[in-house]
Amino acid sequence: MRHYLQFKDLSRDEYAYLFQRTAIIKRRFKNYEKYQPLQDRTLAMIFEKASTRTRVSFEAGMYQMGGAVVHLTTGDSQLGRAEPIEDSARVISRMVDLVMIRTFEHEKIERFASHSRVPVINGLTNEFHPCQIVADLFTWLENRAMGAHDVVNLDALRGRVVAWVGDGNNMANTWLQAAELLGFTVHISTPSGYEVNPQVAGVQGACYRVFDDPLEACRGADLVTTDVWTSMGYEAENEARRQAFARWCVSPAMMAVARPDALFMHCLPAHRGEEVAAEVIDGPQSVVWDEAENRMHVQKALMEWLLLGKVGG
Ligand code: CP
Ligand code: NVA
Repeated sequence: MRHYLQFKDLSRDEYAYLFQRTAIIKRRFKNYEKYQPLQDRTLAMIFEKASTRTRVSFEAGMYQMGGAVVHLTTGDSQLGRAEPIEDSARVISRMVDLVMIRTFEHEKIERFASHSRVPVINGLTNEFHPCQIVADLFTWLENRAMGAHDVVNLDALRGRVVAWVGDGNNMANTWLQAAELLGFTVHISTPSGYEVNPQVAGVQGACYRVFDDPLEACRGADLVTTDVWTSMGYEAENEARRQAFARWCVSPAMMAVARPDALFMHCLPAHRGEEVAAEVIDGPQSVVWDEAENRMHVQKALMEWLLLGKVGG
């Protein structure tokens, strides 16, 4: 049994397989072909933080594959009344086939996973958001490296540059893990005091370069990306962050120094005029709606792999 808690939980070869399955599963969906390999399987989704995309993509994806979902939140379950996470894991995993969790400290999902009888997927923790980065990488490949026959070539990402403008948060940590595994570099620019911690990300220095000036981080980049100034769980820091992050707004000037064919990505939800200018997120280089849609396709491939292993056809 495998869990999916961090990006580095899968190998490069496993990602190559996952992206190829994603392309097949997406094409089938677009052609209205029924594909229901997860009949009689149930996914429990536990949300300790808000969500739109993660909930809809897992829930719709599971139904499309013939399965069922159970939706739990802190407020409407015993999780909010201090039932130990270990006990919750033992109980829930006796009744379902797969669990997705969105929570606060990463350590909490690890404790759940170590007491679960079934695979556990990270739907976002304070430290990581691997499902989003898998969707972003698929979107990148799809827009820049896949021909008409949907052949996924991970080598296309080698040597490329991703510019990260903003908070050294769960998304930034996960981009670093992806860079290390797949051979690209992250140019990272954060305000002082909001840097990434490579120990939390669990990466060596070779996969990223730090820039004080966000514009310099974007120079020559193949992909420019950012995220909210204040992540869920950090709302008390809102005002301090507003001041510290004022210069970390992805602007048309930043896109202009990136490569002419550079893509813009944002995991969403976005705040126009804060971390990104409206002209950029609503402009021609932005692929944010593809990213959101691809959450569903990559997660269907992930659930298929976790429950059925490698499949043919
Ligand atoms: N990007 C993302 O995970 O969105 P939600 O918070 O809406 O799930
Ligand atoms: N970094 C953001 C991502 C939201 C999908 C957060 O954790 O709130």
